Amino acid sequence: MRTNDIGCLEDERDAAVRGWSALADGRTSTRRFMDSPVPDEWIAQMLQEARRAPSGANLQPGEFIRIDGAARQKLSDRLVEMYRSGAPQNEDYSYFPIPMPMTLRRRQVAAAQALYGALGAARDDQEARRKQFERNFRFFDAPVALVITIDARMGSGCYMDLGMCLYGFMLAAAARGLGSCAIGALASYPGVVREVLGLDAGQSIVCGLSIGYADPSAPENMVRTVRRDVSDYLRVIR
Ligand SMILES: Cc1cc2nc3c(=O)[nH]c(=O)nc-3n(C[C@H](O)[C@H](O)[C@H](O)COP(=O)(O)O)c2cc1C
Repeated sequence: MRTNDIGCLEDERDAAVRGWSALADGRTSTRRFMDSPVPDEWIAQMLQEARRAPSGANLQPGEFIRIDGAARQKLSDRLVEMYRSGAPQNEDYSYFPIPMPMTLRRRQVAAAQALYGALGAARDDQEARRKQFERNFRFFDAPVALVITIDARMGSGCYMDLGMCLYGFMLAAAARGLGSCAIGALASYPGVVREVLGLDAGQSIVCGLSIGYADPSAPENMVRTVRRDVSDYLRVIR
């Protein structure tokens, strides 16, 4: 049996690369879930694994708040109410560039079209789009719903750290056969989230996260978004 220079069996390494590759390639956002419950202990295990993500000075920023029962119902109802009222969205942090440059706008539109196309919602079908958007606030009815927050004093680098942890969490879910979807829309009305969950102003609302077993028959779960070609963003300067 041959070992490589870090003492790992080559067969094992190849299998690990194949496993990792399939996991990364197979993860897509899940927006419709089965009712089947997720074992409670998995959530803590998955978070522990995700927290092995690196972070600047090992600060490990961000909190994951699992919400359920009456608190979840109240939060979703209040957010839907805000959305329907047309209240202005006022996220704690800026996500997208304003205005959105055309090249990025094209990607955004392509992702939206992939989703709404799968749902059979025409471009001008505002009612279908509104209904789908409202599902964000109900965590897509997933069995597990989380709200992710960060200390408001943290800088942009800490958001990067939290993003790594979040991706680790999503992959830990995928490794267990679970689907997930990050929900930036959850950050649209941060005051409401803080009020319902009893959080103080020192906690910025980053996003929501839905986890559960994906409904394999749901068209919105069959969306596979495209990615830029690596040659488009990898450059070598010598
Ligand atoms: C931080 C973050 C926030 C997101 N917010 C939303 C959201 O509010 N609603 C939604 O349907 N999808 C949301 N998404 C999912 C993205 O639209 C999706 O990741 C992207 O289109 C790529 O598709 P994929 O995840 O299926 O590969 C979010 C993703 C991330 C990482």
